[in-house]
Amino acid sequence: MAKDSMTRRDFMRVGAGAAAIGSAAKVTLLDPVQAMASPRPVPPSDRLRFASIGTGVRGCNDLDTALRAPGVEMVAVSDLYDGRLIAAQEHAGKKLDTTKDYRRILDRKDIDFVIVATMDHWHAKIVEDAFAAGKDVYCEKPMTHKVPEGFRIIEAAQKYNRRMQVGSQRRSNVVFHKAREIVESGALGQITSAEGWIDRDDPSGAWVYPIPPDASPQTIDWQRFLGDAPKIPFNAKRFFRWRGYSDYGEGLPGDLYVHILTGIYTVLGLQGPPQKAVASGGLYHYKDGRDEPDVIRTLYSFPGVTVAVHCTLNNSSQGGGTRIYGTKGTLEFNSEESVTFIPEDTRPRPERYSVVGWPKKLREEYWAKWYREHPQPSVTSMKAVEQSQTFRVPDHYDEDLAHMENFLTAVRTRSQTNEDQVFGNWTAIACHMANHSYFNKAEAVWDEQAKMIRT
Ligand SMILES: NC(=O)c1ccc[n+]([C@@H]2O[C@H](COP(=O)([O-])OP(=O)(O)OC[C@H]3O[C@@H](n4cnc5c(N)ncnc54)[C@H](O)[C@@H]3O)[C@@H](O)[C@H]2O)c1
Repeated sequence: MAKDSMTRRDFMRVGAGAAAIGSAAKVTLLDPVQAMASPRPVPPSDRLRFASIGTGVRGCNDLDTALRAPGVEMVAVSDLYDGRLIAAQEHAGKKLDTTKDYRRILDRKDIDFVIVATMDHWHAKIVEDAFAAGKDVYCEKPMTHKVPEGFRIIEAAQKYNRRMQVGSQRRSNVVFHKAREIVESGALGQITSAEGWIDRDDPSGAWVYPIPPDASPQTIDWQRFLGDAPKIPFNAKRFFRWRGYSDYGEGLPGDLYVHILTGIYTVLGLQGPPQKAVASGGLYHYKDGRDEPDVIRTLYSFPGVTVAVHCTLNNSSQGGGTRIYGTKGTLEFNSEESVTFIPEDTRPRPERYSVVGWPKKLREEYWAKWYREHPQPSVTSMKAVEQSQTFRVPDHYDEDLAHMENFLTAVRTRSQTNEDQVFGNWTAIACHMANHSYFNKAEAVWDEQAKMIRT
């Protein structure tokens, strides 16, 4: 072998191993353009007025985000709890038209769009009503609580020619767009598997939120909250910790899988619901009356690729991550902030495993012949080509704002949103398939013809 030719160990040091051992992977700062960074005057014809429906935790985040974009004004709010009508006005920094009946907001002709950030079991009904009233909608993820709702939303959007953005912000995140570009360049080779996870270990992460001291049937419209869920007496725990109950949410899949899957769908360019899902897990630790598991792992089948997703509320040592595995390289995400391309060592190399069982003479002759026929590239040339590369967002990058701005552009110009109702439906169905498999203890199969999940 030539003196500077590369051993496998050299390759690992400059290439695949670089990220792992913290040596100098090349880091590129992504350069997203955000309106907030370059405020501009908005002509009166482009000014937008909106109302928020559901202003709990996320609803307040969303209205804050919308108000950071230029040319946007909030005029009304609907929520079922008095405290949240107050919180919304505090966030908006002004007095708003308030109501517990969202339909009154939809009747207002001066409202261009609504933000829907209610519990999941209310999303579809409110979105459909908003479309019928001529409003565009930014609706939080997951888009639906039950499979048929997604198809109803798609139909209504078409019928009333409305724009919708579903709120999984990774869909607009510049890191995931960069990753898509890398995949499209062919740098990963054939991609056959991917995985994603988000793990937590504290009561807040496990949805054990404090209940406000004034929570009561006088301050909360309990009957309206129930909607089409089973009728039960007032229960503040269910109202404020709804994520743990399958009557109102979808547990970990609805809360976290949808983010992971949105990223993976975006990077791989997946289309349609998964073909199959097999989930397993359990409610092991948070035995506080909830029915959703605190550990759930799911294997999804898509054409040509297997995707594994897992979440736990009982240990956070793995944090959150996504990995995309190709025959020529791996993409490794550090949550939503960066992605590193790690090349595979795809150089041809002599077989080393099975020839251990050959006589020494034959083995050494095989290796000598192999190296004569496959001259190795020099270390210097490999360094240039094979070094790991990291792409990360600049400090203060805001993926929520990027997602909201994309929606506002669509409202103004009637362009497509990054995460429309068709895309939102695919990832919501994927969440429903995980729960279907978990609760039925069986493989969930997507029936595209019948548009339903079968076991
Ligand atoms: N994109 C994200 O990163 C992200 C983060 C958190 C939550 N979310 C999503 O946002 C949604 C809300 O979550 P949250 O944590 O803010 O919940 P929350 O319990 O804090 O707030 C939900 C609010 O919706 C109101 N509401 C329910 N039904 C209503 C109705 N018919 N009319 C008017 N108001 C109604 C409730 O009164 C409540 O205040 C969920 O769908 C959740 O999955 C998304």
